[in-house]
This record gives sequence, structure tokens and C-alpha cells, in this order.
Amino acid sequence: MSKITKLLLGASLTMVASISFNSMAADGAALYTAKLCQTCHGPEGKAPIMAMYPKLNGQNKDYLVAQMKDIKSGARNNGMTAAMKAMVATVTDEEMAAIADYLANVK
Ligand code: HEC
Repeated sequence: MSKITKLLLGASLTMVASISFNSMAADGAALYTAKLCQTCHGPEGKAPIMAMYPKLNGQNKDYLVAQMKDIKSGARNNGMTAAMKAMVATVTDEEMAAIADYLANVK
């Protein structure tokens, strides 16, 4: 493989990587709405409908993923968790990561 071909290949791989990063962020936003998360947590996770419901925007990504997994598995279970548990029952690990990535980046 010539040096120029390698350079071109490298450049196109970089483009592919940045495109899929962008579409992943977009998927997170779309999933957040498609899965009806905003009905309780508000648009962009900023304005929960009840004072007891948590805001989600700007929260640490890994923390958000861990909480969703714990609520789904039942490891996290308190008075308020029941409302949330049914909502994450159908959300996959990949979808949780995409949603968390989106929410963590909402200012
Ligand atoms: C029916 C209302 C409701 C819906 C819809 C809902 N949630 Fe929640 N969510 C809650 C409540 C209530 C809690 C707090 C649970 C607790 O107290 O343990 C919560 C907690 C969370 C947490 C943990 C936040 C923290 O600070 O620990 C995350 C993350 C989350 N929800 C994400 C989502 C996502 C993503 C969706 C959409 C798939 C969603 N929620 C849909 C009510 C809801």
C-alpha cells in the first residue's frame, strides 16, 4: 500500500468515526423522546414534572448509565423507582449509553 493510500485511508476512517459519533449523539436525543423519557423528566431532562423526579441534564454519563441499569435490574429500588422501572424495561444497554451520552452533554 502506498503512503498516499494509507493517508487517504486514515483520513476516511477518521471521517467515519466522527460521523458515527455524531449520529450516536443524535440517536440519544431521538431515543430520549421516542422512549417518552421527557414525559417525566421534561425536555432535555431539565424540567421534571414532579419535584421528586430527578433532573438529568449535565449529569455524569457513567453515573446515568449505572443508575438506569440498577433501576432496570432492581438493584436500585426505593419509593420512587417503580415509576421509572417500567420505562427502562425495554431500553437496551446500547440505548442507555446513547441516551446518557446525550443527557450528559445537555447544558
Ligand atoms: C413515569 C415517569 C418516568 C419516566 C417516563 C421516566 N423516568 Fe426516569 N426516573 C423517574 C423517577 C421517579 C426517578 C427516580 C427514581 C428513584 O427515586 O429511585 C427516575 C430516575 C431516573 C434516572 C436516575 C437519575 C439519578 O439522578 O439517579 C435516570 C438516569 C433516568 N430516570 C432516566 C430515564 C430515561 C432515560 C427515561 C426514558 C427511557 C426515563 N427516565 C423515563 C421517572 C420516570
